Amino acid sequence: DWKMEDVMEEEIKVIKTVVGAKDHVICALSGGVDSTVAATLVHKAIRDRLHCIFVDNGLLRFKERERVMETFESDLHLPVTCVDATEQFLSKLKGVVDPETKRKIIGKEFICIFDEFAQELEHKLGTKPAFLVQGTLYPDVIESCPPPGSGRSHSHTIKSHHNVGGLPKDMKLRLIEPLKLLFKDEVRELGKILNVPEAFLKRHPFPGPGLAVRVLGDVTQGNALDILRQVDEIFIQSIKDAGLYDSIWQAFAVFLPIRSVGVQGDQRTHSHVVALRAVTSQDGMTADWYYFEHKFLDDVARKICNSVRGVNRVVQDITSKPPSTIEWE
Ligand code: XMP
Repeated sequence: DWKMEDVMEEEIKVIKTVVGAKDHVICALSGGVDSTVAATLVHKAIRDRLHCIFVDNGLLRFKERERVMETFESDLHLPVTCVDATEQFLSKLKGVVDPETKRKIIGKEFICIFDEFAQELEHKLGTKPAFLVQGTLYPDVIESCPPPGSGRSHSHTIKSHHNVGGLPKDMKLRLIEPLKLLFKDEVRELGKILNVPEAFLKRHPFPGPGLAVRVLGDVTQGNALDILRQVDEIFIQSIKDAGLYDSIWQAFAVFLPIRSVGVQGDQRTHSHVVALRAVTSQDGMTADWYYFEHKFLDDVARKICNSVRGVNRVVQDITSKPPSTIEWE
């Protein structure tokens, strides 16, 4: 029966030994729990020889960049370079409709930016960074084999998603994966000891390709991203206000590339339709759609149509996984 404090101390010792007294380490922060906890741990071990990058790909949620940078800087004092690559990503995504193609483009652009960051760092330091931190968890490592005595079964053998779609092969960075023996709930426990804010540790998962998989079709169509951000923020804030956030695995809005007729004021409108999705799940491999009270949904739908210009219809996704996936693309 090991305590999380001991795990932390042990990990810090290992990181110090592995990295040594001179080498530098880089880390890509996604804004998620795993990479944040991994980076915070490494930072504790080697301090300013850690160099983090956070990329705004233009596909983030409402005020996401500001919110995560605030946590990185004010709460965790992590050394983070924030790169605004919105134009770079969106110009490459213009006109692209196929979901897998979108993912590939996003993965490739990310690698370019990461590469550039590593090169600039090398130039600045006069030496190549030698290590890369990744927030890999135990389930990612074992995939199909349950740990002895854990009582948990991990029967899924399909690993379908990678956050960053791999990194440049010729980079010759050695990996540091300080969370690779931990489960998600243990990472949260570790994060707590490392002073990662509680609310941050409880955030719902968010896909690497971001809102690109939640705007169906071309992500650059009209002001789809802007509409989606506003709708999503209203939905999530309402869920938090109702005290439901922690009972839900993931909740989000989806922008549909269609218009329908509505009547607002005494005007007929021909505007956008958004879908709301909320699910419960243990691990994302299967999921059940979440049942909201009538009044909650009624309030949310009214609020969305009243305050988001260009939306006149709200629908709810009532399919579980399977047969649907959690994301729409
Ligand atoms: P699906 O939609 O396949 O999603 O039921 C299962 C979980 O994985 C997340 N997801 C992704 N995460 N890159 C990611 O990093 C992706 O391309 C991706 N697609 C889905 C999804 O949000 C859910 O938590």
